[in-house]
Amino acid sequence: MVLAPMAGGIGTPALAAAVSEAGGLGSLGAAYLTSGQITEAVADLRARTARPFAVNLFAPGHPAPPTPAQVGAAAAELAPFCAALGLTPPTLPARAAEDFAGQFAAVLEARPAVFSFAFGRLDAGQLAALRARGILSLGTATGLDEARQLARDGVDAVVVQGGAAGGHRGGWEDAGDELAGTLDLTRRAAAALDVPVIAAGGLMIHADIQAALDAGASLAQCGTAFLRADEAGTSAPYRAALAAGMAPTGLTRSFSGRPARGLVNALSAAVRAPLPYPYQNALTRELRAAGARAGEAGVLSLWAGEGYRLGREGTAADLLDHLWPT
Ligand SMILES: Cc1cc2nc3c(=O)[nH]c(=O)nc-3n(C[C@H](O)[C@H](O)[C@H](O)COP(=O)(O)O)c2cc1C
Repeated sequence: MVLAPMAGGIGTPALAAAVSEAGGLGSLGAAYLTSGQITEAVADLRARTARPFAVNLFAPGHPAPPTPAQVGAAAAELAPFCAALGLTPPTLPARAAEDFAGQFAAVLEARPAVFSFAFGRLDAGQLAALRARGILSLGTATGLDEARQLARDGVDAVVVQGGAAGGHRGGWEDAGDELAGTLDLTRRAAAALDVPVIAAGGLMIHADIQAALDAGASLAQCGTAFLRADEAGTSAPYRAALAAGMAPTGLTRSFSGRPARGLVNALSAAVRAPLPYPYQNALTRELRAAGARAGEAGVLSLWAGEGYRLGREGTAADLLDHLWPT
């Protein structure tokens, strides 16, 4: 069992450590952290557990910066939501995302047992640097072509993410992302690759995990199943929306500019012209933070997989024991 990395304050060091302590592989979603914050979070994790854990980043993309007209249109869509929370219309900060090179250097220095990544590929030098430090590498694929590419690159294992998964689509080839079923993709990847496959997406109960292993997976990676864990950083309005179980999930680019699955809410339904990632993510950041403070779930990115209604409350150890009784 792998705890899915969950960037943005949900996958706390306490959650990752609790899963590792209970016999799983905890993951720290570090994509939105500065290099200094990564160093601190890993120290926090190490103070809580001596067991192995993973650190996760988003591989860098190089989207063309949006034009002023595009920024104006995207900001205008967000302006009414900002006004309702007493904020002025959003503007783009000078830096839309953390510098990957700095983040990656902090990970190498911190030397976790495992480094996982999404949104792209690493270059040969980066993979060699991980290998030289004894850090296992896990890449993320949403289709078989991506999975093959990662295996050819030389990763140690491939996370295959089915269409039911909560959070961002972790691949990079939009055209090849067919929202595959998790078990179907697992079966095809396990047959095609000579590296271990880790299944992710909609695995909410023991039987789901058993099915993924039967389909050829070596491990199962679960995110949504831990969103309501005591140790998770999930905000109160987010927890309430998950517990209510009323909203359907859907894929949206509204919050970050990349497709991600979450509970459909006012903001996900309203945005028509998001900027590309990471610009939309930067443009909505202040609004999301204000929404969390005000308890306004309509402007929050409520990432959740299709199986979220099967999620439970409890300690991470209890949830892990429910998913995989020992
Ligand atoms: C709240 C949330 C945040 C996520 N953040 C990340 C992340 O930072 N990095 C990553 O590789 N995957 C991230 N994911 C995707 C997970 O790695 C995984 O694919 C997904 O949780 C599996 O589907 P499930 O949510 O149905 O278990 C996130 C998922 C959720 C629910």
